Amino acid sequence: MKSTKVSDTYSLKTELVLPNDTNNLGNLMGGKLLHWMDIISAISAQRASRRTVVTVAVDFVEFKAAIPLGAVVILEARVTRTFHTSLEVRIDVAFESLNTGERKESNVAYYTFVAVDQSGRPIPVTPIDPETEEEKQWYEEALYRREMRLVLAGRLKPQDANYIKKILGTS
Ligand SMILES: CC(C)(COP(=O)(O)OP(=O)(O)OC[C@H]1O[C@@H](n2cnc3c(N)ncnc32)[C@H](O)[C@@H]1OP(=O)(O)O)[C@@H](O)C(=O)NCCC(=O)NCCS
Repeated sequence: MKSTKVSDTYSLKTELVLPNDTNNLGNLMGGKLLHWMDIISAISAQRASRRTVVTVAVDFVEFKAAIPLGAVVILEARVTRTFHTSLEVRIDVAFESLNTGERKESNVAYYTFVAVDQSGRPIPVTPIDPETEEEKQWYEEALYRREMRLVLAGRLKPQDANYIKKILGTS
């Protein structure tokens, strides 16, 4: 089966934080950021699958720093790994002050999509071919992130989470 390079799934989105996007403290609302992350990660997932995709899980979202009004938000997404019908996308979010040029990391998150046919039924996706050391690490670690989300969703018994057990040294 033909494979797709991680770099072929790369997507970049740049947004300006406007007054309507902020909370009472003048910082970007988390829901707005999640919406931008959903869009950019869906673009990456569709670049990998060339199929319609639906979001099935959002996890590991941690807001490390508040993003102020007037900042530029930079979102980067890549597919880390595909499984049978599902794909994991990593999104790196940073923000930049237009006054100083200083750039800070905001958060890293993982979205999972499923490729579907016109009736909404899951269909297989092509494998991902990691090239760089970083991409290879994301690819390997995707196995235990997948197990964690399937265990939390009640779709996998903890005792069957073999990669997690291997990492914990309990297998
Ligand atoms: C996504 C959806 C098609 C999956 O249907 P399903 O009947 O659960 O299908 P399956 O059991 O065959 O699972 C399909 C894939 O989803 C994965 N999956 C299902 N639930 C998951 C979860 N909570 N976390 C991670 N992956 C999950 C399965 O592991 C499987 O992956 P694989 O084929 O790579 O092994 C269905 O749940 C759906 O339509 N959900 C609504 C999606 C939606 O509306 N999203 C928001 C708008 S885009």
